[in-house]
Amino acid sequence: MRESSQPAFWEVRYEREEHLFGTAPNTFVATVADRVPPGADVVELGAGEGRNLIFLAETRDCSGTAVDFAPTALQHAEQLATTRTVALEVIQADVRTWGPARRWEVALVTFLQLLPGERPRLYRLLQQIVRPGGWVFAEWFRPDHLTGDFARIGPSAADRMVPAAEVRSAFANWSIERCAPADVMLQEGPRLRGAAAVLRFAAQAPHPTDEADR
Ligand SMILES: C[S@@+](CC[C@H](N)C(=O)[O-])C[C@H]1O[C@@H](n2cnc3c(N)ncnc32)[C@H](O)[C@@H]1O
Repeated sequence: MRESSQPAFWEVRYEREEHLFGTAPNTFVATVADRVPPGADVVELGAGEGRNLIFLAETRDCSGTAVDFAPTALQHAEQLATTRTVALEVIQADVRTWGPARRWEVALVTFLQLLPGERPRLYRLLQQIVRPGGWVFAEWFRPDHLTGDFARIGPSAADRMVPAAEVRSAFANWSIERCAPADVMLQEGPRLRGAAAVLRFAAQAPHPTDEADR
C-alpha cells in the first residue's frame, strides 16, 4: 500500500522555513473559537507550529496539546508559545499509530493530509480521544480543489483530499453540526494563499445520556 508523507518530508520544510502556515490561527478555527468552552483542554493532530492552539490559549484560556511527527515543527511551536506567554504541551507522534491513554474536550485538525487507507483510523482516533459531549473541528482540502478554478496550493493529489460523504459516514453516531464544502480564499502564512476548495467539519460527541438512550 502507498504510504502517506513520511516525517522527513515535513521536517525538511520546517527546517528551511519557520511559520510555514503563519502565526495567526486557521480562519475556520478562529470562526468556531466561541464554541470552544473557556478553559477547555484541546488537542490538535498534525498541529505543525501550534498557531491554532496558541490562539485558543490566548483567547479562550485553553490548555493545548500539539501532536505532530515533525520535531522541528514542535520546537517552533514551543518557541512561539513562549513568545506569546502561553503554555503548550507538545507530543511527537505519528497519528497513524498514536494511541494516547487520555482524552480531551476538543480536537482540531487543519490540513492534515492522509491517504484514504489511513483516514478511517484518524476518524476512530478522534472519536476515542474526545470526551463525551466534546467537539471535533476540522478543515481539509476537498477533491474539487484539483478540478475547479482554484490556486495550485495544498496537496498535489486528490486522494490526500477529503470527501464530505466519507467524514459524514465515519461520524454517523455523532451530532454533525457542519460537514460542508466551502470555497474560500486562504491566507494562511506565506505558502497557503489563494482560492481553495475545502471541507469544514464540526461535530459533537454523543453525551453519556445519548449513548444510554441507544
Ligand atoms: C499542512 S501542515 C498543517 C499544520 C497545522 N495544522 C496548521 O494548520 O498550521 C500538516 C501537518 O501535519 C503533520 N503531519 C502529517 N502527517 C502526519 C502524521 N501521520 N502524524 C503526525 N503529524 C503529521 C505535518 O508534519 C505538518 O505539520
